[in-house]
Amino acid sequence: MKSAEVRQEFLNFFEAKAHTILPSAPMVIKDDPTLMFTNAGMNQFKPYFLGNQNSKNNRIANTQKCLRVSGKHNDLEEVGIDTYHHTFFEMLGNWSFGDYFKKEAIEWAWELLTEVYKINPDKIYVTIFEGDPAEKLEKDTEASDFWKSLIPRERVLLGNKKDNFWEMGDQGPCGPCSEIHIDLRSEEEKAKISGADLVNQDHPQVIEVWNLVFIEFNRKANGSLESLPQKHVDTGMGFERLCMVLQGKTSNYDTDVFTPLIKEIE
Ligand code: ALA
Repeated sequence: MKSAEVRQEFLNFFEAKAHTILPSAPMVIKDDPTLMFTNAGMNQFKPYFLGNQNSKNNRIANTQKCLRVSGKHNDLEEVGIDTYHHTFFEMLGNWSFGDYFKKEAIEWAWELLTEVYKINPDKIYVTIFEGDPAEKLEKDTEASDFWKSLIPRERVLLGNKKDNFWEMGDQGPCGPCSEIHIDLRSEEEKAKISGADLVNQDHPQVIEVWNLVFIEFNRKANGSLESLPQKHVDTGMGFERLCMVLQGKTSNYDTDVFTPLIKEIE
């Protein structure tokens, strides 16, 4: 499978689940002074999340060019340090605007990774938001329960606000998220230390590939959180990371334009 096919499989999968496929938005977002560049697939859909505009389609998927160079959640400080963050990358995403929520987002992510891309379920760990009393945010037991119906409970880990509460910027749509991590290490390495202990520890072969965000709040300019009238799904999967995961899966994997990140760190 070539990287172009990896991308197309993603779009085909969500098209079959009644999503409309849209093109990538431009790198510079018009009329939004809160962001300098497009840093996530959801940026172009901000008015739909906030309820300021209605989308013609309540299910959308696409692949988005992203640039993360400055500011909150822009990852600049991670680039070149943790071995897997890029400044410029492509993000595969699916969205629900007031339509499906956690159950479908989780079940479809699992189906795509394990049945379409055929990633071994034993390599997968997920994280859910542990809650944050200071912001009066509860633990995401709902997402946890959906995951536990799919994977062993010891692979469902708790994550803190930094990793498991995604915000577009200092202001804007936000909510708890559930990340999917893949452990690419050898069996020998796994016997020494469990993948569960390496999730979110900057290990080059235990990496996050997909973030499922459950948007239900708007972060206001004064820092407070306001509940949105509807609940939405915003997901983002790192295309280059996914290619890296799939490249390791089969010996005859045929890569084309993409340079496996793993080579960079060897
Ligand atoms: N908007 C989410 C992210 O960028 C999916 O991680």
